[in-house]
Amino acid sequence: MSENSNRPPCLDTLLAKIAHRSCTVGVVGMGRVGLPFAVEAAKAGFNVVGVDTDPERVASLKRGVSYVEDVPSGEIKALVLSGKLQVFGDIDDAPDFDVLTISIATKLDKSATPDLSSMISVAEEAKRKLRKCQLVSIESTVYPGATEEIFQTSFMSTGLTPDKDFFLAHSPERVDPGNRAYSEKTITRVVGGIGPNSVAVAKAFYEAVLDRVHVVSSTRVAELTKLYENTFRAVNIGLVNEMLRVCDHMGLDVWEILDAANTKPFGIMRFLPGPGVGGDCVTLDPHFLEWKAREYNFPTRFVGLATDINRSMPAYVIERLWRILNDRGLPVKASKVLVIGASYKRDVADLRESPAVRIMDMLTERGAVLAYHDPMVPSLKTAHLELKSVQLTPETLSHHDVVMILTDHSTVDYALIAEHSNLVFDTRDAMRQVANGHARVVLL
Ligand SMILES: NC(=O)c1ccc[n+]([C@@H]2O[C@H](COP(=O)([O-])OP(=O)(O)OC[C@H]3O[C@@H](n4cnc5c(N)ncnc54)[C@H](O)[C@@H]3O)[C@@H](O)[C@H]2O)c1
Repeated sequence: MSENSNRPPCLDTLLAKIAHRSCTVGVVGMGRVGLPFAVEAAKAGFNVVGVDTDPERVASLKRGVSYVEDVPSGEIKALVLSGKLQVFGDIDDAPDFDVLTISIATKLDKSATPDLSSMISVAEEAKRKLRKCQLVSIESTVYPGATEEIFQTSFMSTGLTPDKDFFLAHSPERVDPGNRAYSEKTITRVVGGIGPNSVAVAKAFYEAVLDRVHVVSSTRVAELTKLYENTFRAVNIGLVNEMLRVCDHMGLDVWEILDAANTKPFGIMRFLPGPGVGGDCVTLDPHFLEWKAREYNFPTRFVGLATDINRSMPAYVIERLWRILNDRGLPVKASKVLVIGASYKRDVADLRESPAVRIMDMLTERGAVLAYHDPMVPSLKTAHLELKSVQLTPETLSHHDVVMILTDHSTVDYALIAEHSNLVFDTRDAMRQVANGHARVVLL
């Protein structure tokens, strides 16, 4: 039998549609991952249909208003007006897709065990739209094996043959919100498929949208690559946070040591200590790895250690604040604390798992009087607080006993903070950029 007779007709059908940009791309989950990708796919010439169950997000996109910092509203507006991007709140109302990418958020339950319910239900939704010659690519972060175990298993009940009648791939998203050096388009995409035909179609599709694609041998390799990347970050952040605390005990300045270590041109990478990790990548993904490894009777010790250290950082920050105030004869209770930066990292508005929010809650429990300033987060509601971001003025700064920098947004006026604050507790080394006023700054 010739090689060609084994080639499923669907493969050439879909490859031709991708090459001619004549296929419709569905993006399920138009969040921080789905929205930038949908915009890139539309800019690459595909007709894109976004699906999101959040009615506010759907309404916002229909008005051409972005809720993701790195995606300008103007781009969305132009794509919506030209019809290149349509948005629906229910997948069943959307037209048929030739390619479907899935980028809904993955979750853990209260005991840090993966909660697969959203993945299982989105697989059922995608199954209703599955048809012959379609590519489905999972972009959400999942445990190794999830694409096959959840999606392929579900899709096979349609009677369609995987890698022949439909194609299935995993391509983990690597976008880094707030990072201007690397965009959705320029970050190399890892792609793994359930078979050679799925790989061929997924590679062609992602190459049509993005600058570079790196193919791996299976969906499981692609899934574990993503978990390794984020675990790598979690472990290195855990290590530098542990160094911080070793230095605290030894009376040494960790920031000076890091500056020195980072002059080495090889064998070291720049990770900085801070008030803890946030977002839903570094905080969640190592748990997927830990959980799956347990199934193989292999306890992952680095992952657990890093998680423990990173999770203990908010409590450590509170203890340091207690010491700093105590040295000045002030109790935490009733002290006026102005927090700078509530989101989990610089230049994003995302509050998910933000250590700053945990610290604000913990300080409120201890009786501190809290206010916050965050140019990207106009208001916030937590377990103990409901606040609006205050203006950063000389009066606001001088009115507070301590200004606590928890997230170092680039648009904050640090010189103003240096000039007018009574005391600054800087957990991000943000005040380094300011020439004067260092006498009132205490670094984490
Ligand atoms: N945020 C990041 O920086 C980042 C980076 C790389 C990878 N990831 C991973 O990508 C995935 C998505 O993350 P995100 O940050 O975009 O999450 P997000 O919460 O910003 O977006 C997910 C969207 O999916 C929608 N949604 C949920 N269930 C749905 C359904 N059944 N049908 C349609 N829409 C549905 C939600 O309303 C939401 O708008 C996660 O697995 C995350 O770990 C995130």
